[in-house]
Amino acid sequence: MKAYEIQKEGEGLDRLVQVERPDPQPGPGQVVVRMRAASLNYRDQPMVKGGYHTPAPGAFIPLSDGAGEVVAVGDGVHRVKLGDRVCPTFFQVWVDGRPPAGYGALGGPRDGVLAEQVLVHEDGLVKIPDDLSFEEAACLPCAALTAWNALFVAGRPLKAGQSVLVLGTGGVSIFALQFARAAGARVIATSSSDAKIARLKQMGADACINYKSTPDWENEVQRLTGGAESKAPDGRTVVVGGGVDVVVEVGGAGTLPKSYAALGWSGKISLIGVMTQQENPAALNPIGLAFKAGSVHGIMVGSRAMFEDMLKAMALNGIRPVVDKVFAWDDARKAYETAIAGDFFGKVLIRI
Ligand SMILES: NC(=O)c1ccc[n+]([C@@H]2O[C@H](COP(=O)([O-])OP(=O)(O)OC[C@H]3O[C@@H](n4cnc5c(N)ncnc54)[C@H](OP(=O)(O)O)[C@@H]3O)[C@@H](O)[C@H]2O)c1
Repeated sequence: MKAYEIQKEGEGLDRLVQVERPDPQPGPGQVVVRMRAASLNYRDQPMVKGGYHTPAPGAFIPLSDGAGEVVAVGDGVHRVKLGDRVCPTFFQVWVDGRPPAGYGALGGPRDGVLAEQVLVHEDGLVKIPDDLSFEEAACLPCAALTAWNALFVAGRPLKAGQSVLVLGTGGVSIFALQFARAAGARVIATSSSDAKIARLKQMGADACINYKSTPDWENEVQRLTGGAESKAPDGRTVVVGGGVDVVVEVGGAGTLPKSYAALGWSGKISLIGVMTQQENPAALNPIGLAFKAGSVHGIMVGSRAMFEDMLKAMALNGIRPVVDKVFAWDDARKAYETAIAGDFFGKVLIRI
């Protein structure tokens, strides 16, 4: 079968190469999936550029998120049958509750889905609804599930009438916008691009802020949620007294202090991402949260059970993933270049 390998992590796109690998054969409990589409997440960028927090020891097949159909099953498989349309789960062994130890993800450190065929255990599969295309389903295992967990599972679940802040227009944030709107919440969204802000509004964002032209966007979030100007002890003008109920925090240390400031009374920051500066002393001082009874809740993608709950909610609410750009198999490097350039809204995919 054909596959892509990252032959040495962190050494750039020249080390993303097409290879031939033996067709996998299913053992007891195992399933071979003929992959049809795969999508990129932010984590796939440091895998080629360097800096991923758990580097893979050698060559590996990249990408965690994909969809395809079952083409072979081993003895004892009962959860799926030949021809079923499925997604492999991000953490193959996390079915429900607390994940077992050693739960490495697909696409590093485990071999991922940018291959014609993938061998998985039957427990690491979710059946996808008939009305979702392979491309749409390939957006779900990491990006959508993380947004779902951040809003409805971790800590206090989002309620109708509450407000949510989403940062940027990548995979997790766009799913969070869709899920929060479907749940009856008000969504404030940020982006570096006015053109992308126009798309956010079309998708139902209630208010948008360009975080490049408005670097103090936390004050704007406060203003939009009923806050009023006040003088900080250091003489700065800040806006306080408003704030959102949930921040879907994909920025990391660079944006976290602003997210503390944008949060409202008893709000929750779902701590997800690492896109901005890795170290920031202000991020280490969440004392302001104490005065608004706020919380920071870590998120690790999600379990298979959460995935299945999310699919039910998506079907009921007619939520479809935003497939922005789809590249042919031979153009996988172009897909990576597009993601690295930030030239997308929602998801970038590769057809397999
Ligand atoms: N903990 C977990 O379980 C988990 C799961 C999934 C993802 N993540 C993390 O979450 C983050 C987002 O992942 P993703 O796959 O959704 O990313 P993505 O699809 O690659 O989206 C990146 C987008 O983020 C926006 N962005 C970049 N810098 C920003 C900043 N300083 N402030 C606000 N927005 C900024 C940009 O939007 P604009 O172009 O609109 O400016 C960019 O297009 C990554 O750090 C990823 O590693 C963690």
